[in-house]
This record gives sequence, C-alpha cells and structure tokens, in this order.
Amino acid sequence: MTDINRADGQRVESERRRVDTPVIRTKLVPGQTFFETIKEYVGFDDNSTALLRRFHPMAMGEFPRIIEDFYAAIQRHPGASASITGGTAQIDRLKQTLVNWLHGLLLGPHDEAYFEKRARIGRVHVGIALPQSYMLTAMNRIRVQLADVARDRLFDDAATLVATTRAMHQIMDLELAIMLETYREDLLAKNRTTERLATIGQFAAGIGHELRNPLGVIESSVYLLRQHLTRDSPEPRVVRHLDKIAAEVQRSSKTITELLELARNRSPHRQPVGVRALIEAATGDSHLPEGVKLTTVTPSDADITLNVDRDQLARVLVNLFINAGQALGSSGQIVVEASRNDETTMLRVRDDGPGVPVQVRPRIFEALFTTKSRGTGLGLALCRRIVEAHGGTIVLEPEDPKRRGACFLITVPDDDEFPGTS
Ligand code: HEM
Repeated sequence: MTDINRADGQRVESERRRVDTPVIRTKLVPGQTFFETIKEYVGFDDNSTALLRRFHPMAMGEFPRIIEDFYAAIQRHPGASASITGGTAQIDRLKQTLVNWLHGLLLGPHDEAYFEKRARIGRVHVGIALPQSYMLTAMNRIRVQLADVARDRLFDDAATLVATTRAMHQIMDLELAIMLETYREDLLAKNRTTERLATIGQFAAGIGHELRNPLGVIESSVYLLRQHLTRDSPEPRVVRHLDKIAAEVQRSSKTITELLELARNRSPHRQPVGVRALIEAATGDSHLPEGVKLTTVTPSDADITLNVDRDQLARVLVNLFINAGQALGSSGQIVVEASRNDETTMLRVRDDGPGVPVQVRPRIFEALFTTKSRGTGLGLALCRRIVEAHGGTIVLEPEDPKRRGACFLITVPDDDEFPGTS
C-alpha cells in the first residue's frame, strides 16, 4: 500500500483525488480574492507599489548585508537551523533565492501571480516543518533592516520617508499574512487527515478482522497446493496462477494490517532499537524488486540506537521502501542514512527514481490522497501519524537540482518531551 506514483503524478482516479496546483482558496470577503482583501485591509495600492519601486535602487546595495544578518540569526538558533539540512551548499542557494525574493518584494508587480508565487514559497517552509514562530521573527528581521535603510537614505525627505516606510510595512504584513495562511492551510489539511483516519479506523477494525480469516485460509491452501505440485511434476501455468494468488493475498493482507494499525492508533511503546536491525526487518517486509539495492549508511559504520516503538517505526520504513521500490521499477538504489544530533535521530530515505512531481508535493501526507490507480492513500498519512506520535517530523526534502529522486527525512527525538518537538 503506497500513496504516490512518482513517475506519473498527473494520473488520478477520481474527482476526490484530483491533483491540482494548490492555490489558497480562503475567501475572507465574498467576491474578492484573499490577496485583494488583505491588500485592501492594510491600504496597499498602486501608489504603494510605486513607492517601493522608487525605494528599490536605494535598498538593493544593502541586500547582501540584510541576507548575511538573516542567515546569521538562523544559524545562531538551533530550532531554526535544524531546518537547514543541506549544509553550506543549501545556505548558499538560499541566499540567492532570498536576493530574488527581496527584488520581487520591492519591484512587484504585486498582483495575483505575485501572491501565488509567495504562497508557493510559504508552502516550501511548511513542507520542511519550519516552526511558524521562526517565520514570524525572520520576517521581522527583514522589516527592521529595510526600515533602517529607508531612514538612512530618505532622512532629508520626511514625507517620502513616511510614505515609503508605510508601504514597506504594508508589503511585509502582506508577506507575513500569506506565509501564515499556508501554515493554516496545512493545519486544515492535517485536521481533515485526522478526521478521515478516525472514520476509516472505525470501519477498518470490523472489516479487517472479517477478511483476515478467509485470507489466511486462501494462503494455507495455496501453500498446500504448491506442495502437491512439487511432488507431481509442476504445470507452469498452474504455478504462475498460484504465484498470482499468493501475491494478491499478500497485498490484501498488507492493506488490512495497515487498516487495523490505523484503527488501533495506539501510543508508541518506546524501547531501545538498533537502527540496522530496524532497517533489516523493514527491508524483509518490503519485498523490493530484485534489481533494487538498499544500502544503510551510519557515521563511521557504527550502529545507532533509537528509542522508538520498533513495530511502528518499521512500518514507517516499510511504507517508504515500498514507495521507493515502486518509483524505481525494476532497478535502482535506495540509501538510508542514519545520524544523531543531540538527543535526536535522523533517518534519510533517498532513492534515485524520478522524484515526486511538484504539484503533488504539498499533499502527499494527506489521508486518502493518492495518484496511483491501486493506492489506498493511507501509507504516508500513517507514516506521518506514527512519527508525530513520537514527537518527531517526517518531511519530503526540497528537490535538489544536483540529484535525482525523492528524499524523505525522518527526525525522531529520544523522548517526546524533548524541547522544540511539540
Ligand atoms: C522572511 C522569511 C523567509 C523568507 C522570505 C524566505 C524565503 C525563501 C525562499 C524564496 C525559498 C525558496 C523557495 C523555492 O522556491 O523553492 C526558501 C526556501 C527555504 N527556506 Fe526560507 N525564507 C524565510 C524564512 C526562513 C527561515 C526562518 C528558515 C529557517 C531555517 C528558512 C529555511 C528555508 C529552507 C530550508 C528552504 C528550502 C530550500 C531548498 O530548496 O533547499 N527560511 N525560503
């Protein structure tokens, strides 16, 4: 059971599962877009855009300093820098994206296309699980710096200074409102997922138990038939059909196991588990195609001990491995990198398949969202629920232009009380 067909993100089953480029649908006032309403509320108009454009040549020389200040603040704060998982190469890339963001901020045009672009940037931060409070405070660092530049450059023209500073505050408030709306969007999606999982769970418990027994009977009959066949020279067509029955029974059992796991929704029973043993168990249950190679990387090849619910974490890995295996097809690589940081374990599951299409990225953890013709849309929702029950996070890392494939990062603290994980 898996959720996403990475090679074909557009193919979908029904209207409910339609893959759209996400847009903020919140309407604060009927007949107005979200952006029109908030612009009107803060009093941002064409004159504000004109003032910001005039301010742009005065401010752009200061962008490098503003950006250095911005990233220095992130690096000083472990809660913020935890979201930077790609080291200095990622920071260098981010510095360039922030320069472009600042140019766009002052030059506009501040239209609906601008709004969509900014909402997409907001979703990138939601996707990397950046705590909302850092978004708020980071925005304020830029605001303070731009206000200083305006004061220094326009000190001899009080009227322009006042008007420009006002326009600057307005656009920063709009940016903040957009960013925060993307967090709200995510929260609503999470609530929908919780409700759906609860409903599915109730049905699943009853139906799952009913189906378990007949499937068990089919499985043992297949086993007995195989034994007869081995004794009395096997008929290839019959063997093929038995293989098909066995594979389908296994698939159905797996769906039932996941439904029952959903229904139970039990709290994790933490115990020390070696990461290598955990990965080995999950690999065994994933039935990956023969040509798919799975490698585990740990620092200095030493094992790492996690304090987690063994079965639950193994289920998370099984779901990720199956997704990766399906994305890879008959051959490819899956690499699991494990590392420790203070009292937290990080597991990165990377494959070199086609990656996850950009339009489905924001929705892949939603329950019942799938792009596969045979997917249930529960696998990644379940992964997220398990990891979050451990006080951790699971994110799909942003696309890396230098690498193919998808990369999921799981972060699990040793203890749910670990600061910054609630
Ligand atoms: C004023 C607040 C912020 C602005 C304007 C901003 C701007 C941006 C932009 C333009 C992108 C590129 C999005 C894309 O097109 O893919 C981005 C991505 C990102 N930002 Fe921010 N950001 C802000 C706050 C933060 C903070 C506080 C952090 C803390 C770590 C952060 C970490 C990241 C990361 C990790 C990415 C993903 C980059 C990647 O593709 O590797 N951002 N941000």
